[in-house]
Amino acid sequence: MEHYYTTDPSVKSEERIIKYILNGKEFFFVSDNGVFSKNHVDIATDFLLKTIHKEVIGKILDVGCGYGVIGIVLASSSSVIDVTMLDVNHRALELAKRNAVKNKVSEKVKILESNGFENVKENFDIIVTNPPIRAGKEIIYNMYKKSKEHLNENGSLYVVINKKHGAPSTIKFLNNVFGNCEVLDKKAGFNVIKCIKNN
Ligand SMILES: C[S@@+](CC[C@H](N)C(=O)[O-])C[C@H]1O[C@@H](n2cnc3c(N)ncnc32)[C@H](O)[C@@H]1O
Repeated sequence: MEHYYTTDPSVKSEERIIKYILNGKEFFFVSDNGVFSKNHVDIATDFLLKTIHKEVIGKILDVGCGYGVIGIVLASSSSVIDVTMLDVNHRALELAKRNAVKNKVSEKVKILESNGFENVKENFDIIVTNPPIRAGKEIIYNMYKKSKEHLNENGSLYVVINKKHGAPSTIKFLNNVFGNCEVLDKKAGFNVIKCIKNN
């Protein structure tokens, strides 16, 4: 069976348009078969954006961007300088590129094909992720460790994760790595976690 993180989905393309509204601002995303949450903006993604969109500033990295919701919505904020969006799924990356144009933020957005942080060469003020739970703990825990290496001093990592997908153990792990993580908000099992790099 193909996963949403297959590099080259073979499932037949059937594009559709998804509308998303945050704070009265409308966004439109082209989505397709073979990408994560193809029919609507994921509930965890929506909760993450509602929780963090007012506080993010500077240079941002969206890890596992899918068709681009998090990176593109954040790029539309005037406090954000630029956004790099990475993924392994080529179809998702192609959609993210088109969606950046569609939502008029392409000048601020870079698309990067990368397995985890493999091709990431820069550092960022903010790293944000709705992590690929199905890829497995080893992969996502490695993403969290690498995030610290790729954050500027006093930069923040934001993660959304459900209790049933291991929020408590994730918080414990992140606290071991960063030493100062907090849950910014919780809803229906979802936790938005923030960790700051200050050591
Ligand atoms: C839970 S989805 C989130 C997608 C998007 N950010 C959103 O909120 O709709 C996780 C994404 O991580 C990507 N992914 C899975 N394994 C990856 C890896 N090793 N490196 C980079 N991205 C990966 C998947 O292709 C998928 O698009």
